Amino acid sequence: MSDLSSEQLRTEFNRWAEAGRGEGMEHDHLPITLPVVDLMQLRPTDNVLDAGCGAGWLSRLLAEQVPEGRVIGMDLSDEMVRRARKNYSDLSHVMFVVGGVDEIPWEGEFFDKAVSVESAYYWPDPARGLREIFRVLRGGGSAWILINYYRDNPHCHQWEKLLPVPTKLLSADAWAQLFRDAGFADVAHRRIVDPTPAPEVYTGRWFRDAAQLRAFRQEGALLVSGVRPTFGQTEARG
Ligand SMILES: C[S@@+](CC[C@H](N)C(=O)[O-])C[C@H]1O[C@@H](n2cnc3c(N)ncnc32)[C@H](O)[C@@H]1O
Repeated sequence: MSDLSSEQLRTEFNRWAEAGRGEGMEHDHLPITLPVVDLMQLRPTDNVLDAGCGAGWLSRLLAEQVPEGRVIGMDLSDEMVRRARKNYSDLSHVMFVVGGVDEIPWEGEFFDKAVSVESAYYWPDPARGLREIFRVLRGGGSAWILINYYRDNPHCHQWEKLLPVPTKLLSADAWAQLFRDAGFADVAHRRIVDPTPAPEVYTGRWFRDAAQLRAFRQEGALLVSGVRPTFGQTEARG
């Protein structure tokens, strides 16, 4: 990642963290994240990476499911990481580290699962991020990327103008191809519908009105997943 884009992201998300938005995102992202945690089929001994962990609420949820494993929450924003550490200092098998997905500060083949919620469309180089996630996963380990901002959902396209940092608006097929290019097998994508009822009146700035928010939630978030093949299996690397 260029120093400039990484610095720009850090500055912006440090601002979010200082405004308390890291903790606030749990409310919005939990309904679409819980089905993903189920699909991940975590085992008690799994080591899990939460890439772009924000204020750490998902790392805490994951930690409950892997009491004999470890959870590493990683975020580019040092302020998000500072808050995550403060919020969850009581969890001995969870660690929060400052780092970008382009160069994950961890040894290879350590994690059984990697998950990322509402972060991947900010990554300056998603192909490189996925190659890094592939590197730190063990053979048989799986990656799960969940995003609300993707080309196939027309009700989020206005975010490009509202967000003060560059974003990547890729289709589900393009994300799946990036997974395959990084070496992942069993690549799949599906929609995770947000069952939260939309309010009668919407006064926020992310959607035109309540009808658009409802349509956005019905389209659902995009979940892309893939498995790092075990030694001896054919890898799909092109
Ligand atoms: C919208 S927030 C979501 C945070 C958290 N996953 C949640 O759902 O509450 C996006 C997060 O991704 C982080 N992020 C953005 N680009 C990143 C990168 N290249 N590497 C690591 N973290 C990144 C940001 O700092 C921010 O905390």
